[in-house]
Amino acid sequence: EKGGFPSFMDKEIHDQPQAVADTLRGRFGLDGRLQLSEMTIDETILKSVDKIVVIACGTAAYAGQVAKYAIEHWCRIPTEVELAHEFRYRDPVVTEKTLVVAISQSGETMDTVMAVRHAREQGAKVIAICNTFGSTIPRESDGVLYTHAGPEIAVASTKAFLSQVVACYLLGLYLAQLRGNKYNDEIQLILSELETIPGKIERILEGTKQQITDFAIRHKDEQSVLFLGRHVGYPVAMEGALKLKELAYIHAEGFAAGELKHGPIALIDEGQMVIIVVPSSRGRDSLHAKVLSNIQEVRARGANAVVIAEEGETEVEEFASEVFYVPETTTLLAPLLATVPLQIFAMELATAKDLDVDQPRNLAKSVTVE
Ligand code: M6R
Repeated sequence: EKGGFPSFMDKEIHDQPQAVADTLRGRFGLDGRLQLSEMTIDETILKSVDKIVVIACGTAAYAGQVAKYAIEHWCRIPTEVELAHEFRYRDPVVTEKTLVVAISQSGETMDTVMAVRHAREQGAKVIAICNTFGSTIPRESDGVLYTHAGPEIAVASTKAFLSQVVACYLLGLYLAQLRGNKYNDEIQLILSELETIPGKIERILEGTKQQITDFAIRHKDEQSVLFLGRHVGYPVAMEGALKLKELAYIHAEGFAAGELKHGPIALIDEGQMVIIVVPSSRGRDSLHAKVLSNIQEVRARGANAVVIAEEGETEVEEFASEVFYVPETTTLLAPLLATVPLQIFAMELATAKDLDVDQPRNLAKSVTVE
């Protein structure tokens, strides 16, 4: 059932082009407009939404953080992301005009189930983004957008994360279409860029996986790894750190690159591994330039700077001890590509340490207790 791969995780990483394609499939009506068939919330309600709150845990919450950047940019609806267990135990401002988006691979995470109930009690409408048909969270929500990643067996989430991110983009584009924030041709442009993603993931798996594996083997005794990213690269950095903690039991932390000088830079000394996610180079904006200067800052303090950058960004080679190239895409869609090398790195490093990558210690696939 592992499809010839040594672990479920390895198989699921390779399933990602298909998972992304399947989550995108069948979302268009005959008129070429985006349609979300399981979206059973009334259009007039969706048009009047004045705030979105995404609730989720772990990796699903990082998908939510990517969603915040996309939804606010495309729809101009204020969007917050909150860990479900925090949301549930405070007194959040939720009204009938709040749209709560609950993201969960399993649909059974008790913290998220309780947060959904908490939101609905206060009159909010809840949309579930879920990978498990008929599970508790979609059953208890007002609408659902299923991800079509297929069953995810490995404890560490990989293909479910990418398909959650895709589902969040679809939701954002749907709301933008409905509320008239974007013209149809702009939406079509983003959708056609999304259609190129499966082939680009394939290229990472074919072209870069061996380089990452060799690198992970060389670094299997690493004690601590820091991850830096800006904008949508920030949740990618946190996801990379979570994967490394879960699988390889290595201390890892993800930071917003801009936060570096506010404290974390004190952690950097000779040889500290820092993995930096460089934003899309399209347009070469100030965001891109800022991250390049972050690489130089850590490098100047002796860090072992490892960079995830787009193909063609050869200038980073001057400052980095290793560069993993990913194909080019737009800034907002970049997490669908930049995450993949980080998943492979964590898996291969854990494998080099002879650890069980499918079933890491102390963890359950679905956390059904609060
Ligand atoms: O099933 P869910 O998406 O609700 O699970 C949420 C988290 O428990 C899950 O993403 C967890 O963080 C993974 N082990 C991450 O790899």
